[in-house]
Amino acid sequence: MATMTKGSRPALNGKAYPVTYHTYDVVVVGAGGAGLRATLGCAEAGLKTACVTKVFPTRSHTVAAQGGVAASLGNMGPDNWRWHMYDTVKGSDWLGDQDSIEYLCRHAPDAVYELEHYGVPFSRTEDGKIYQRPFGGMTTEFGEGPPAQRTCAAADRTGHAMLHTLYGQSLRHSAEFFIEYFALDLMMDQDGTCRGVVALCLDDGTIHAFMAKRTILATGGYGRAYFSCTSAHTCTGDGNAMVLRAGLPLQDMEFVQFHPTGIYGAGVLITEGARGEGGYLTNSQGERFMERYAPHAKDLASRDVVSRSMTVEIREGRGVGPEGDHIHLHLDHLDPKILAERLPGITESAKIFAGVDLRRQPIPVIPTVHYNMGGIPTNYHGEVVTLKDGNPDQIVPGLMAIGEAACVSVHGANRLGSNSLIDLVVFGRAAGLRCAEVLDSKERQAELPSDAVDPALSRLDRFRNAKGDTPTAALRLRMQKTMQANCAVFRDGPVMKEGITKINEIWKQSDDIKVTDRSLVWNSDLIETLEFDNLIAQAAVTVVGAENRKESRGAHAREDFAKRDDANWMKHTLAFADYGKKTVSLDYRPVHTYTLTNEMSYIEPKARVY
Ligand code: FUM
Repeated sequence: MATMTKGSRPALNGKAYPVTYHTYDVVVVGAGGAGLRATLGCAEAGLKTACVTKVFPTRSHTVAAQGGVAASLGNMGPDNWRWHMYDTVKGSDWLGDQDSIEYLCRHAPDAVYELEHYGVPFSRTEDGKIYQRPFGGMTTEFGEGPPAQRTCAAADRTGHAMLHTLYGQSLRHSAEFFIEYFALDLMMDQDGTCRGVVALCLDDGTIHAFMAKRTILATGGYGRAYFSCTSAHTCTGDGNAMVLRAGLPLQDMEFVQFHPTGIYGAGVLITEGARGEGGYLTNSQGERFMERYAPHAKDLASRDVVSRSMTVEIREGRGVGPEGDHIHLHLDHLDPKILAERLPGITESAKIFAGVDLRRQPIPVIPTVHYNMGGIPTNYHGEVVTLKDGNPDQIVPGLMAIGEAACVSVHGANRLGSNSLIDLVVFGRAAGLRCAEVLDSKERQAELPSDAVDPALSRLDRFRNAKGDTPTAALRLRMQKTMQANCAVFRDGPVMKEGITKINEIWKQSDDIKVTDRSLVWNSDLIETLEFDNLIAQAAVTVVGAENRKESRGAHAREDFAKRDDANWMKHTLAFADYGKKTVSLDYRPVHTYTLTNEMSYIEPKARVY
């Protein structure tokens, strides 16, 4: 057990908050695929490692990932990491950093074999190899060849299989888990070094300060800023918001991915693997309309392309259903044996959430918020970077980020399906390797500044005792509906300007927030309020960044600026939030237009057609 001391912070609003102090080499916040892979790596390297997570590890949102994990194993046909890299750069619409993309794609096969050896129960080919299915935007021969079968799958429950395996592996090493601890804020030094994180133990209300030489944020995305999303209710981007409160920027937050096939009305994910196995979309005329929009890749075009095509069909009056507001996904022509073997999860989801038997009926689907390309800027080691004194790659000492919380940036303006799970394990592993390389377990940490926990406790205390008139749920609903209406698949200047005004009003109105439960034990009213406070700042930087970017690129499709503009906009947005004034300011970082090694040369921008 790591060192533990107890202390008590001065009274805040008349109430003292006793604090338990813990000392680790590394503290990982979040226990999804990335967090667990980093925890495992650090513990395996002999570093004293803690993983702090607000849900039980196997309930983290990675559990919901369905279709698979991309790696050019070549089990089902020729493949090559360079083709994977080409597809990822093209998928990113040339906003991805090519050094990081090279790192991702060349290490992907080893990361998947490592998962296999850890025990992930992948589906198998006849000859016992890992089964791989086609996914959108994954091709061969640098986009010139047929679709690649690159997505390694455990039926349609790949994330579930990975998460359980990684948790089991983490327990083999001496990592310590702090489960159902809600991270409140980072502890930052005067000189901008991260010294750890403060958390609230949900089941007994105690406060814990985790001192660490490295704090790794693996806190996931913030899909819940939107009304309809495939993300779990826990996806509130807590790490992203902590970074904003520390005065650091988030990167490319305007790029929000809509998955083409969320179940209409429920938002539940129907995997892209469904189209990988031969499923197709139709409009009210029974037409396979993707043939018009993407003659080559059709239903397996990149996600942003499919989501936009579906939206155009609906807008132009060719949607299905009584209100003509959704699209049909067909799997009813597929062999029921294939459905049972490879898509059992969505067979169940379609029944439960849409009331359809997909062996006989189409599934009603609609583009649904699924993933945040933007997040905490990092290099490919997982180290957080910021813009300082003209250096756009200045490392923030002590702080790392991985997974959906991070923006490495390998996904740029649009992520390809199945590149998320591989991002989790490749960069979770990279973060562990980096910690093992630079940390010395025997080295003592400097004393924490005496006021290190105060900002976190003041914020907690303020919300705990909030006596305003507006319930958190009312503000949250307004935020979610505004984001859904004003920052959606298609975007337009005036609509986004209205969105900025509304989000600013909601943010300001949070000064009048009402929390009724004053306790600290399992206080869901308080936790949802803290989560809302995290979400609203991310909603603000998202819509402000979106309005500011006067071009269309990847998932950011503007009606008033319909073309990509490389001359002016091939750059990352950096968004800063002033929590006191509730305002957003923007800056930029250049895209890395160089590769990691000379085994692959820079992929020049060109038109992105599928
Ligand atoms: O469609 C899916 O199975 C989702 C995969 C992903 O987002 O990578």
